[in-house]
Amino acid sequence: MAVSQHIGSGSRPRGVGDWSEGYSSLNEEHAYWVEDIEGEVPVGLRGTLFRNGPGRFERGGVAYKHPFDGDGMICALTFTGDRVHFRNRFVRTEGYVQESAAGRILFKNVFGTLKPGGFWNNAFDFSFKNVANTNVILYAGKLLALWEAAPPYRLEPRTLGTMGLDELDGTLHPGLPFSAHPKLDPFSGNLLNFGVRTVPGLSPQSTLDLYRITPEGQVITDSTHTVPGLAFIHDFACTENYYIFLQNPMALDPLPFLLGWKGAGECLRLAEGVPMRILLVPRAGGPLITVETEPFFVFHHVNAFERDGRVVVDSVRYEEYLSAPADRDFRQTDFTQVPPGRVWRTEIDLGRGRAETRALCERPTEFPQVHPERVGRPYRYAYLGTTHSARDNAPLQAILKLDTETGHEQIYSFAPVGFVGEPVFVPRPDATREDDGWLLVLVYLSDEHRSEFVILDASDLDRPPLTRLKLKHHVPYGLHGTFTSEVFC
Ligand code: CO
Repeated sequence: MAVSQHIGSGSRPRGVGDWSEGYSSLNEEHAYWVEDIEGEVPVGLRGTLFRNGPGRFERGGVAYKHPFDGDGMICALTFTGDRVHFRNRFVRTEGYVQESAAGRILFKNVFGTLKPGGFWNNAFDFSFKNVANTNVILYAGKLLALWEAAPPYRLEPRTLGTMGLDELDGTLHPGLPFSAHPKLDPFSGNLLNFGVRTVPGLSPQSTLDLYRITPEGQVITDSTHTVPGLAFIHDFACTENYYIFLQNPMALDPLPFLLGWKGAGECLRLAEGVPMRILLVPRAGGPLITVETEPFFVFHHVNAFERDGRVVVDSVRYEEYLSAPADRDFRQTDFTQVPPGRVWRTEIDLGRGRAETRALCERPTEFPQVHPERVGRPYRYAYLGTTHSARDNAPLQAILKLDTETGHEQIYSFAPVGFVGEPVFVPRPDATREDDGWLLVLVYLSDEHRSEFVILDASDLDRPPLTRLKLKHHVPYGLHGTFTSEVFC
């Protein structure tokens, strides 16, 4: 099915097929010095960018139904100071190893890829494959591949070899979920994270565990809370005094889920007449505070901070839940039918127990990032993937720098042939300005079926890219990544 995609005046329209080729599997595992470089690698950029995302989208000739079901593949891009090294490797999860040996799909996935065998093989099977494909962080000397519904997988940071499931020296209780969006807390120096579990049923309840991970890598469960309803919470925000969660107003159609016709992700929808519930957990202890506002859906938060007795949370907001149509290949997505994500601000007045919301930017966006030291603090700049055209929803082809104080938008677009994901902001050493640094962006070039890492000057997106590091192959669209100043290769 050919679906045309508008990418603004002056560029020829391109079919959605250009975008969809970026969701081809990369079966080979590479390790090489990047030699095809346009421009100069910035002086002072030293360290390793780790990225995670699905790298394989089929097994035994059967396509996975949703890209989020794809097996996690880590990329490491290492800046030694004078050379750049690339490496990619699959996370050898238990499911990956067993399915590789069998040459076919053996497990059920959250987003709809079912085991072969139909009903009798999928009914009442609630065990999902941990695909370890969502994020990767280096913390307390451990490189961890994250997937929100299960404990992390530990990797060897130089070779990206899989060391196994890691329950953080046994301090994460066995099998408990550990979200893919931990935050390095600039106030305490700890890593903060959460895990959420829902017991489905006629009146579902969810449990939220809040974790503080010490610089030694020990998990301390700060508090545990029971919240009514389903809690589909992918990300959280934190400030000096609060953990903040937006509990999306979701409903689960239990029958197809219980009977195994569909994956959990496919049985969800926005519940009618149910508000968005903002959950604030005081970090110093005390009961959870709930504030309700109008319904919408959020995967990711840009940032949060406290100001004048208010808690401000900026998020990428959708007016509907993004579900993949059950009868269609995700590569055939008609973006005109998909609700766009937009950056909205939610201000919570704790004294009055009320929230106000407003849009900060009209452009379709996803994958927000901020300066790492501004997490939880007042901040000015957000960096996101955006569409080439300002209004129509389409694949992400540009990087947006949003000035949240003035509303000013600066865009660097890779259209018509380039497609992007999350920009990772790396501060320049000794920088004093918030936007003095680099944006590392993985760009898929559809005309060459190849990818490159592009370095943009975050202080001025009107400048052409500083560096294009051309890879010898493509890398499928990823999800999240992090930069460390440690050099691994
Ligand atoms: Co995410």
